[in-house]
Amino acid sequence: MCGIVAYVGKKNAQSLLLEGLKRLEYRGYDSSGICIGDKHGLHVRRAVGRISILEASLEASGQHLPPGHIGMAHTRWATHGAPTEINAHPHVDDHNTIALVHNGIIENYATLKQLLIEKGHKFASQTDTEVLAVLIAHFYKGHEDDGLAKAVQAALHEARGTYGIAVMSAHDPETLVVARRGSPLIIGVGNGEYVVASDAAAIVEHTTQVVYLNDNEMAVIKPASFKTMTIDDVPVTPEIKEVEFKLEQMELGKYDHFMLKEIFEQPISIENCLRGRIDLHEGRVVLGGLANYARDLVRARRIIITGCGTAWHAGLVGEYLMEDLAKIPTEVEYASEFRYRNPIVEDGTIVIAISQSGETADTLAALREAKDRGALSLGIINTVGSTIARETDAGVYLHVGPEIGVASTKAFSGQLVVESLLALFIARRKYMSQNVLNEFLTALTKVPEKLKTVLEQSEHIKTIAAQYVDRENWLFLGRGYNYPVALEGALKLKEISYIHAEGLPAAEMKHGPIALISAGMPVVFIAPKGSQYEKILGNIQEVKARGGKIIAVASEGDEHIHTVADHVIHVPEIIEPLQPLLTVVPLQLLAYHAAVARGCNVDKPRNLAKSVTVE
Ligand code: M6R
Repeated sequence: MCGIVAYVGKKNAQSLLLEGLKRLEYRGYDSSGICIGDKHGLHVRRAVGRISILEASLEASGQHLPPGHIGMAHTRWATHGAPTEINAHPHVDDHNTIALVHNGIIENYATLKQLLIEKGHKFASQTDTEVLAVLIAHFYKGHEDDGLAKAVQAALHEARGTYGIAVMSAHDPETLVVARRGSPLIIGVGNGEYVVASDAAAIVEHTTQVVYLNDNEMAVIKPASFKTMTIDDVPVTPEIKEVEFKLEQMELGKYDHFMLKEIFEQPISIENCLRGRIDLHEGRVVLGGLANYARDLVRARRIIITGCGTAWHAGLVGEYLMEDLAKIPTEVEYASEFRYRNPIVEDGTIVIAISQSGETADTLAALREAKDRGALSLGIINTVGSTIARETDAGVYLHVGPEIGVASTKAFSGQLVVESLLALFIARRKYMSQNVLNEFLTALTKVPEKLKTVLEQSEHIKTIAAQYVDRENWLFLGRGYNYPVALEGALKLKEISYIHAEGLPAAEMKHGPIALISAGMPVVFIAPKGSQYEKILGNIQEVKARGGKIIAVASEGDEHIHTVADHVIHVPEIIEPLQPLLTVVPLQLLAYHAAVARGCNVDKPRNLAKSVTVE
């Protein structure tokens, strides 16, 4: 949600910043802007729309920015104020001396704005961010040493809310000040250069040595040095870490969209997620990150899983797995609800935060709430070094590689794999027999191969999608482990194709939603062979009787399903608790093909951002 990139060094800052912005564009893409500093001061350009529009406007004659070796840029996901040029970042104060880019929300901006207006300041935009620029300018005392840093500190003491910011001053165009609270900021430390960004994607091309700023920390960066401190000016010794990130993971390769690439990557990403975690020889699950917590897990009296969106859906599968296999009472909680509803956290409670980005504001706040109330905290996170990963007591990384498409796909399957491993890790220590565990472990190792046969049906799924793309309402129905998959299928379709879709437990239909069924309405049933197969066949008949069009995800070899469904997508058989790993993939493809057929921007759907770092 909003991407920041900033540079101090010897290279041409403009081209480097624009490249960096493109790598961050998935975080927000309604407007963008850039600021370059040189001996004459600060030079700012902004544009509405994608970064390519900003780039084109910079190339247009008469619009060139002067060359400079220091600068910052921003890609925006609007919170306060419409996506217009005036609301785009960088924001400057009313005397054009301070420029600032910001990710987050300044909650008391209206009060601060009023105070500043009373002191004679003027505002141009509707944003919360501009207030910060004006406030810093207000406190800025000119050329004194560290004048910019001091002004930033003074302003941040007045501000309430969340921020990752980069700030430059026309009076001191050789200095960049960055600070964070609640929004991620990473400093890449190169050879005589520094690249600061909201995530490592914009840094790794230049250096893999990074410093993760913590909340309430800031840095003052000059061409030949940088120092870190708290916003209360207490010096902090920077800890330089190596970031593992391959640039090819950020490239589209032969695919048209990142979402398709990431769907097709799943056999490999699941293999990576499983690597080193299953010891078939010894018959055990190896979760190094949890080695010191096995006792707590076995003795846990309750598990609370929290997350948002797709991560919440994975959490719901986790609830079923923990109760079914590990026999621990478990609830999945929307992070945004949990944090505000005064939840009960008793002794023996473990909270598990699930997040691809590790930066989702609500999930982070829920985690902190649970920790404050005494819970042991674990993370199931994809992004290494992210805030949630760092704030949990322990955890398991997904290792599925960076996920760029806004619609989460391979992170979801990675989350399911880790949850299954975790449930088995506990179950075997409690009561599960070695034979049953071995059966699960063997089944898990076969998932990548089985997924390939699902992916081979992409063209078949495309022809199904093509027949229904003009329908504005779809239902997704599943039972048991496949109910969360129904929710996930509906979310995928909604977010990238803008078709209204609902996911439901199939048996809930007759308690109301069945009234929606009309002739020709597409209804997707997730109906593999298993304990509830006969029941779901009954639900299919109920929909069919009312004219609904049935798209069934069914087990390989199930011939009967063809007699009741209009379309069938087969998935290989697998032990029931692992079914979601296979049944979700046809739904990811269905949503993808429907969105492409409707001409939607699959990787950057309207109104969305990949990483939601505001409430
Ligand atoms: O990074 P996170 O996993 O914490 O993100 C949570 C949700 O914002 C995310 O899953 C969102 O629902 C996706 N767009 C779904 O595809």
